[in-house]
Amino acid sequence: MIVRIAHRGAKLEAPENTMSAFTAAFNQGATNIECDVRLTSDNVPIIMHDATLERTTNGNGPVDQCTYQTIQSLDAGSWFHEDFKGTSIPQLSELLRWQKQSDIALHLEIKPMSPEVLNAGLDVILKQVYALANTEKIFLLSFQYAVLERLQELNSPLPRVLSVFHCQQQDIENAAAVNCRQINSSYNHVCRKSIQDIQDRGFQAGVFTIDHGAQIQELTQYNVDAVFIDDMRLLNENTLSLGR
Ligand code: G3P
Ligand code: MG
Repeated sequence: MIVRIAHRGAKLEAPENTMSAFTAAFNQGATNIECDVRLTSDNVPIIMHDATLERTTNGNGPVDQCTYQTIQSLDAGSWFHEDFKGTSIPQLSELLRWQKQSDIALHLEIKPMSPEVLNAGLDVILKQVYALANTEKIFLLSFQYAVLERLQELNSPLPRVLSVFHCQQQDIENAAAVNCRQINSSYNHVCRKSIQDIQDRGFQAGVFTIDHGAQIQELTQYNVDAVFIDDMRLLNENTLSLGR
């Protein structure tokens, strides 16, 4: 059965990466949610996709140059719809507490960090995960190899997942070197062979981001293990249950 992961929560119904989007996904039956983790300038992990504030908040500038006090004062809902005016940017800690009580599987995508802050950033993220989450249902994803490398150095027992757009042989070698469980690649660059190459090396294969049932049908034929979906109607797409 293909695992269906709500990408940034129910992002078509509520502002992405907010508690409103996560609870909307949960209420519709999602058992897996993906979100993006970034650090503020004072090393507070927050949930936000973009490196800058403009698209999804009323702030501006790079997230990693803002203190948490500034982040806390921003409106992360009005850009989406006036009904969500005043929605806040969640702290990772808030999301982890909710994950534990809702028992949902959380795929934490750790967004790229500069080398200067990477070790301290991962320390604070891991501390919060161990203290607050149900760690049986936490996955750590990254496009940044250095993040996965550091997690391995720290002997983190949490499953590691490499995300790439177009999976090449070197990505498979990299994922093996840091003992990943899964490799995610973009729907725009997958084919039967690329999925098989990933699985033949013992990794699970995830694909982001799926918008239509027809794409799911195709991926079912490739025996893909997990898909990231934006539209919660795809949670119940019948074809998804036909995977291996
Ligand atoms: O793991 C990959 C998935 O999260 C897609 O990437 O850019 O939406 O964070 P993005
Ligand atoms: Mg992401």
